[in-house]
Amino acid sequence: MLFGKKPKALDPVDLAQLPQHIAIIMDGNGRWARRRHLPRSGGHAAGAETFRNIATYTKEIGLHYLTVYAFSTENWKRPKDEVDAIMRLLRDYLDEALRDMEKNQIHMAFWGDLSPLDPELRALCERVEFTSRKYDKCNVHICLNYGGRDELLHAARGFAADCAAGKREPGELTEALFGSYLYTAGVPDPDLIIRPSGEQRLSNFLLWQAAYAEFYFTDVCWPDFKKEHLLQAIHAYQLRQRRFGGT
Ligand code: FPP
Repeated sequence: MLFGKKPKALDPVDLAQLPQHIAIIMDGNGRWARRRHLPRSGGHAAGAETFRNIATYTKEIGLHYLTVYAFSTENWKRPKDEVDAIMRLLRDYLDEALRDMEKNQIHMAFWGDLSPLDPELRALCERVEFTSRKYDKCNVHICLNYGGRDELLHAARGFAADCAAGKREPGELTEALFGSYLYTAGVPDPDLIIRPSGEQRLSNFLLWQAAYAEFYFTDVCWPDFKKEHLLQAIHAYQLRQRRFGGT
């Protein structure tokens, strides 16, 4: 069977040695829906539910940073009704996040170019980000109209503009300074990037930040991804030896 696989018996995970930052490409919603003869929007709705469960669970286990790829700069190519359905799910989630903020205590932020979004959705993103800024133990980042290449261009333009304005000198550019122009400024790079659904590619996700990330792939589609799968990914990560180019 290709889908709905049960996770294997749980391997022990050392919760005291969690990665600091996990990033997830929430893939496989469409295939999950097709196999159930549902519209693609049904797959995204199930995917949004998985996101709620995984975000809650990462907070419970004490993960500091969770980032999810919700909508890429390329996803506008999808049929309008599918794009509208994803935007509706985001709006529903953000309304809920605003309502339950005190209970959840999660800081939420958005990475990407929000300018083409519907002004109401954009205002909601800004409101959620602003009102949740006081919670700093668990940080959830939603990549929305995000593309790694677009982010690099945005950063390069920002730095060039500061040079043109006399605030910076081209010669002072370092990795750290460049990082401060990225959407992800101030947030540690992801330690672990998870991609469900069997695909094994980065798809323009966190290109700069993924330089030394560990990857974990699973055949399970995102709507079927449970906390057991997350723990399996963390366990696999804990068995890796990270050398960052050293020995
Ligand atoms: C990729 O699967 C998924 C997306 C492009 C959309 C992800 C959106 C959500 C999970 C819902 C909204 C999110 C939040 C944070 C509430 P795919 O459609 O490419 O799947 P396929 O490759 O099987 O077709």
